Amino acid sequence: MICLLFVCLTYLFPAGLLWAREPIEPLPVQPEYDQQKAAIGKVLFSDPILSQDRSISCASCHNIFSSGADSRSVSLGVGGVAGDVQSPTVFNSRYNFKQFWNGRVDSLKEQAGEPVHNPAEMAMDKEKVEQRINASKKYQVLFSNKECYQFSDSITYDMVIEAIAEFEKALVTPNSKFDRYLRGEEQLSQLEASGYQLFKNLGCVTCHNGVNIGGNSFQKMGTIIPYAYKEVYPDRYSVTQKEYHKNVFKVPTLRNIALSAPYFHDASAKTLDDAIKAMSHHNLGYPISDQQVKKIIIFLNTLTGDKPAILEQ
Ligand code: HEC
Ligand code: HEC
Repeated sequence: MICLLFVCLTYLFPAGLLWAREPIEPLPVQPEYDQQKAAIGKVLFSDPILSQDRSISCASCHNIFSSGADSRSVSLGVGGVAGDVQSPTVFNSRYNFKQFWNGRVDSLKEQAGEPVHNPAEMAMDKEKVEQRINASKKYQVLFSNKECYQFSDSITYDMVIEAIAEFEKALVTPNSKFDRYLRGEEQLSQLEASGYQLFKNLGCVTCHNGVNIGGNSFQKMGTIIPYAYKEVYPDRYSVTQKEYHKNVFKVPTLRNIALSAPYFHDASAKTLDDAIKAMSHHNLGYPISDQQVKKIIIFLNTLTGDKPAILEQ
């Protein structure tokens, strides 16, 4: 019986498909999304029309030509109002089990409405969005004659948000060296392979795993050695009011991590070196050597993927 199982497994997962046996899975090369809606969402994403004083767009805080995140410690919204937390990447966010550091919403569609309303971000409301978009010649044309919309007399807020969410679904960065390795298309160098081995052996992979190498659980910053608590940050406690959720955040993705400094919800780690040392101290409970940190960085560098195809169109 056991033998039979083994034969079946070998048949289902031939040697090439390494990821069937690894805790990390490659990103889909061609993610599914509605192309017509996403094309409109792409325009909206970089258009300051969605902010009260027409000064900022989603792209102001999510640089889609680099990491999809913000290189500033905190993003600035309309009128220069500072946000309360470092802006995470929008790349591959469709594969996160929930959105935001504290996971307060489940879907990208629910997510996309938040910055538009947030007084520290775009400071708009539903009616104002509808007024502006309907008054714009550009969007009248973009939203009309599309099979994806049963074109009614006007463009609704829902259509706007849905288009942005569809664009976000297209923001996937496939074909990193590590994904190609998992698919059996390329070998890792000796140093990259030993960095990956360390990542597994030290226990990083217990929290950073799956298709997004994170993004699939809530964990405490300071699981072993406590991390200073500051209530200004949107942690899981701010959603549940449960004491044990203080400093608990959605584990961030490590895809394209070499591009997205600074790190952590409070941007306290300016380099990958700092971030890995802090992780080892607070979340694994032991010091890590410079040599080990170097190797892990070499492995993390293999997680940078292609730019999302929709940005080339
Ligand atoms: C003023 C800066 C700013 C603007 C403008 C902005 N964002 Fe964000 N975005 C942030 C910050 C900060 C967070 C993290 C907030 C939190 O977790 O509480 C975030 C979180 C997100 C997330 C969740 C990612 C994750 O892993 O949880 C997505 C997706 C996202 N934004 C998309 C958008 C879209 C779409 C727009 C435009 C409609 C937009 N953002 C506008 C700063 C901004
Ligand atoms: C117990 C779960 C856990 C373990 C183990 C763990 N991490 Fe993390 N990791 C997290 C959480 C939670 C965060 C977010 C922390 C924050 O923002 O305060 C994080 C953040 C990071 C970041 C910064 C990501 C960003 O976008 O800001 C990096 C890099 C990282 N971890 C790498 C590692 C490495 C390398 C290891 C092993 C040495 C490791 N982690 C072990 C849970 C874990």
